[in-house]
Amino acid sequence: MGTQAPTSGAGADHWTAEAYSASAAFVPRLTQKILHYLDPQPTDRVLDIGCGDGKFTANFVDRVEYVLGLDASKGMIEAAKRDFARGNAEYRTVDCRYLDQELQGGSVASATWDKVDPTTRVAVLQAIHGCLKPNGSFIFEMGGHGNVPEVHAAIIAALVHQGVKIEAARQVMPWFFPSETWMRKTLEGIGFRVERLEMEYRPTKLTTDEKGGIEGWVRLMGASPLEALDEGKREDAVREPIYTSSKNHI
Ligand SMILES: C[S@@+](CC[C@H](N)C(=O)[O-])C[C@H]1O[C@@H](n2cnc3c(N)ncnc32)[C@H](O)[C@@H]1O
Repeated sequence: MGTQAPTSGAGADHWTAEAYSASAAFVPRLTQKILHYLDPQPTDRVLDIGCGDGKFTANFVDRVEYVLGLDASKGMIEAAKRDFARGNAEYRTVDCRYLDQELQGGSVASATWDKVDPTTRVAVLQAIHGCLKPNGSFIFEMGGHGNVPEVHAAIIAALVHQGVKIEAARQVMPWFFPSETWMRKTLEGIGFRVERLEMEYRPTKLTTDEKGGIEGWVRLMGASPLEALDEGKREDAVREPIYTSSKNHI
């Protein structure tokens, strides 16, 4: 298991369980469908990629033979270990862009995946394919093509208003929301048999926590593009009125 990702491109740890809870507590609550498809069984060995603070992973603890939660954020993994470590549940800080073959032996892999740069996207899926036992399943959820379009455009506009060139602003947006066509073609090219692929329109109510709402969400999910600005300008970019159309929902 390569627990140490190469430092180049790995970036700073933008996640904390507190900020996640204030701004995105709805994410693990929206996992009922994926959990239904995963259908955890006592003999399953589960790999949860992008497990965050472990609230979703907790669905497997005590229900399967073994579960391993991986996340690139040290802060999130610390929270997962604190709240959900058991004899059959382990958590490790791993950037999934650098998964390797030592993870072999899983019967089920799940992922909630938001940031994988273009050079490593296919490699991640290949590594997951390599991790699975014969007839193992990979069940995952991520933003699909056209996800959060207003806020996506608004963050780019906010960077431009703060002096970043438009091409550079587009370049630093790490979000990757593929179409069904891209996903099916890529998965099949790697050797997966695609049983089901669904795109769901799911406007989501933002939290009302004083540290949450659209500002908290942009601070957390937009932390990496906001790094294109000097620290003193980041709050101005977060507080721009251009997020109005996403004030309550994303
Ligand atoms: C939206 S959160 C989902 C967390 C959890 N699965 C849940 O349902 O609450 C996305 C998580 O993906 C992790 N993540 C993003 N890019 C990653 C990468 N390249 N490798 C591993 N984890 C990554 C983040 O650190 C974050 O904890």
